[in-house]
Amino acid sequence: MYNDNPTLDHLKQIDEHKQGEAFSLTETELYDPNYKYFYIESYGCQMNFSDSEIVASILGESGYRPIRQMELSDLILINTCSIREKAEETVRKRLRVFDQVKQQKPGTLVGVLGCMAERLKKKLLEEEKLVDLVVGPDAYRDLPGLLQTAETGEKGINVILSREETYADISPLRLDSNGITAFISIMRGCDNMCSFCVVPFTRGRERSRNAFSIVAEAADLYERGYREVTLLGQNVDSYKWSNPESGATVNFAELLAMVARVHPDLRVRFSTSHPKDITDEVLHTMAAFENICNYIHLPVQSGNSRILELMNRTYDREWYLERIRSIYRILPDCAVSSDIIAGFCSETEAEHQDTLSMIPLANYSMSYMFFYSERPGTLAARKYPDDIPLEVKKRRLQEIIQVQNKVSLQHNQADIGKTYKVLIEGDSRKSDQDFKGRNSQNKMIVFPKAGNYKPGDYVWVKVNDVTSATLMGTLIS
Ligand code: SAH
Ligand code: SF4
Ligand code: F3S
Repeated sequence: MYNDNPTLDHLKQIDEHKQGEAFSLTETELYDPNYKYFYIESYGCQMNFSDSEIVASILGESGYRPIRQMELSDLILINTCSIREKAEETVRKRLRVFDQVKQQKPGTLVGVLGCMAERLKKKLLEEEKLVDLVVGPDAYRDLPGLLQTAETGEKGINVILSREETYADISPLRLDSNGITAFISIMRGCDNMCSFCVVPFTRGRERSRNAFSIVAEAADLYERGYREVTLLGQNVDSYKWSNPESGATVNFAELLAMVARVHPDLRVRFSTSHPKDITDEVLHTMAAFENICNYIHLPVQSGNSRILELMNRTYDREWYLERIRSIYRILPDCAVSSDIIAGFCSETEAEHQDTLSMIPLANYSMSYMFFYSERPGTLAARKYPDDIPLEVKKRRLQEIIQVQNKVSLQHNQADIGKTYKVLIEGDSRKSDQDFKGRNSQNKMIVFPKAGNYKPGDYVWVKVNDVTSATLMGTLIS
């Protein structure tokens, strides 16, 4: 078959030779000196991983192929995250590694993309001498031009944020994909001003992507064998797109239904929901479609109303618990997960206890848990002293993790004996005799292979054992 997209073709070759002995080619042998190659690493949220696929598509248009060996590349890119100090430290460490590659292969260009590029702007070029390109999240279309600048030995920088850019027309080049599950970015930026959070500064104003381009991307993925899409946004519940021709608007519940109608065998997930914006209309839409997964990531951040107010989350403990009750009323089988921050400015032990008590009350299946990390320029950094000692933050975080692990284990134990519809994603990490896949509630289930099933198939699996992180089961024919 003729494939006129050299980049896609190349990715396919890499995938094939990764799959087994039949392809004894190494990546070095696939390397064709007539092409230019880029290597990309992504950090941070799913949005960043999704953006890297847009970047790959834009670079593909200007003749760059992706490669998984950075030593062979002409261009090394790192898509960065600024959410916590540690995230930025990781990036700086990676830049040291890239520096070594660059010394061995002079002429290799190094580019910093994403949130750290946006936060630090020109300062990044001053601080990190090896960096040739600094490109913010709304400037990726400018990459080919910036690369030309960098090739002449000058530095290329574009960190202009946009009120319109959604990359709606760009078909992402799926990187490191399992061919079954994919992310679709439905909006960009964030208009909330949570006082701890750097995202509004690094990602700019909230804007929603054309609903039809989202549905078209989902339909194309389904055609290509994908069976699950996750709709991405910092606050998906405030999705709102107005059709410039008809003036009609599409809200998030309506968008969910539009994507769910692409095909009953295409699962739909979404992330992240904001407790102040998630509506009963969304919950009823989830209930109406079997293929919209029963799983909501609803970050609470803190279980205490005074802290929530300082965080500027615009809901309190009662409001949050009311939303949780509505979820379980309308969607009895729904799993809910959370993000939790320990040791925010001025948090007392009693307020920390409110966070601990929230975990069993909301019955989270799992949580992402962090200790507070002050970010320069945020409301909290300007208004509230970061006054909880590091040891106290770490101890509170450990307590939160312990409670969550216990609740996760109980949540999973309640699944023993139940049978779930599972979408097979591939071999389990530990054994090629086992498949892994997820149920609607987003829980990973590992089970021994049987029959002729393959990734992308739906199967019924009965759970017979669990840990706090995974379910183990057997296929039900
Ligand atoms: N838009 C999402 C969150 C995106 S950031 C939402 O509103 O829920 C992902 C998570 O990182 C946040 O939910 C929060 O728990 C955590 N986080 C953000 N800023 C942080 C900071 N300064 N210190 C520690 N954790 C932080
Ligand atoms: Fe950050 Fe709040 Fe926006 Fe989430 S909703 S990205 S936490 S400002
Ligand atoms: Fe990090 Fe930016 Fe996402 S700061 S969490 S990569 S939006």
